[in-house]
Amino acid sequence: MSKMMWAGRFSKEVDSKVNDFNSSISFDARMYKHDIMGSVAHATMLSEQGIISADDCKSIIDGLNGILADIENGNLSFDPNAEDIHMFIEAELTERIGDAGKRLHTARSRNDQVAVDIKLYLKDEIKEIEALVKEIIVTITDMAEKHLDTVMPGYTHLQRAQPITFAHHLMAYAQMLMRDLTRLQDCLYRMDVMPLGSCALAGTTYPLNRKRTAELLNFREFTMNSLDGVSDRDFCIELCSDISILMMHLSRFSEEIIMWCSWEFKFIELDDAYSTGSSIMPQKKNPDITELIRGKTGRVYGDLQTLLSMMKGLPLAYNKDMQEDKEAIFDAVDTVKLCISTFIPMLATMNVNKQNMRMAAAKGFINATDCADYLVKKGLPFRTAYKITGTLVAVCIEKNTTLEELALDEYKKLCDVFDNDVYDAISLDTCVMQRNVDGGPAPEAVKKQIADLKNKLNGINI
Ligand code: ARG
Repeated sequence: MSKMMWAGRFSKEVDSKVNDFNSSISFDARMYKHDIMGSVAHATMLSEQGIISADDCKSIIDGLNGILADIENGNLSFDPNAEDIHMFIEAELTERIGDAGKRLHTARSRNDQVAVDIKLYLKDEIKEIEALVKEIIVTITDMAEKHLDTVMPGYTHLQRAQPITFAHHLMAYAQMLMRDLTRLQDCLYRMDVMPLGSCALAGTTYPLNRKRTAELLNFREFTMNSLDGVSDRDFCIELCSDISILMMHLSRFSEEIIMWCSWEFKFIELDDAYSTGSSIMPQKKNPDITELIRGKTGRVYGDLQTLLSMMKGLPLAYNKDMQEDKEAIFDAVDTVKLCISTFIPMLATMNVNKQNMRMAAAKGFINATDCADYLVKKGLPFRTAYKITGTLVAVCIEKNTTLEELALDEYKKLCDVFDNDVYDAISLDTCVMQRNVDGGPAPEAVKKQIADLKNKLNGINI
């Protein structure tokens, strides 16, 4: 086994099983580019401050760029025996350029190095997630524009409640995802604070220019407390919470899609390319993608739980427990990206069965509120109108008919205010058109909603 970095202090090599147990390279290797970026900026600042020579700085930067190129073109593979990506790159650099490589870690610790690496890595990931969320919002909005007049039942308690349109239903998800997008932006803003210079925990005696390093790495500012700089994993927890909420939204949407493509609903049909068959039942077409998204939501919640539990009892500052942050947050990030990018084309290709939606809306006394409102408009107090309509519904159930088909004299028996115009007032289309309040399901209102959301979305730069 190769000599460990701390061989001077130790009289024995670390047990090989302990080495494996301790090592994080199998999962932190993915941060190689960000580790190198951090080191290039650190070396640049050290040399500008006269802490290392310009020559050493140049060979460090050339060496690091060479390592980066070799990793990317497959000429350098990660040593599984290395303790982590930071040690691996430093050792490789020293092997390549000699003594100058040993100067890179001046005024730095892996504690601030790992903190800056994860932030650099996650800042890039957040941008990717934001772009995907933006794309799914656009997909939903495009679809909504085609379904402004597609009437469907709106539900509460999964019971048919009042008529809405498919556009309105879809746009509810666009609003939820819009909140996700702004949450991610907020998260990025708070994450954008550079911890380098905190060193192990107590800063350093070298005259660092932390503002310069932050600027080189494109951070908004640097951390103001060295203990906090290396102890903080709030940014992982916050991002994982945001991703959990986003996954919860995708999961609710998935659940509805699963219901809608059942034979009981038949509101939509998924494209063959985005559904799967059964190995035994020839008639089956299963919504596996949406079920997997629903399932993976639990997995992301698990990641959040891992992070919260990992941090709750840790004294300041760095503790090795914190190495467990990466698998959890990387898994959450990978999972949400995978889910959104599969969801988008599935949504864009699904077939909407307008007729079935409308038929479902025509049943279930979905216009009962409108019937009561009709009486209110003719001067009755709402509670009285509500009671009369309830009795009417009971009459319809007894006669096995609907409010639309019930004869006028039956209406009049209960209240003589009813007239022929009641049929128009309770027609499905009137019920939807009349709900023209801002934020309501009437096509005009939904058009406004779409325009407002598009406007906000255009104002968001990723
Ligand atoms: N691999 C470690 C991690 O991911 C890097 C920091 C190690 N620092 C230390 N003092 N052991 O957290």
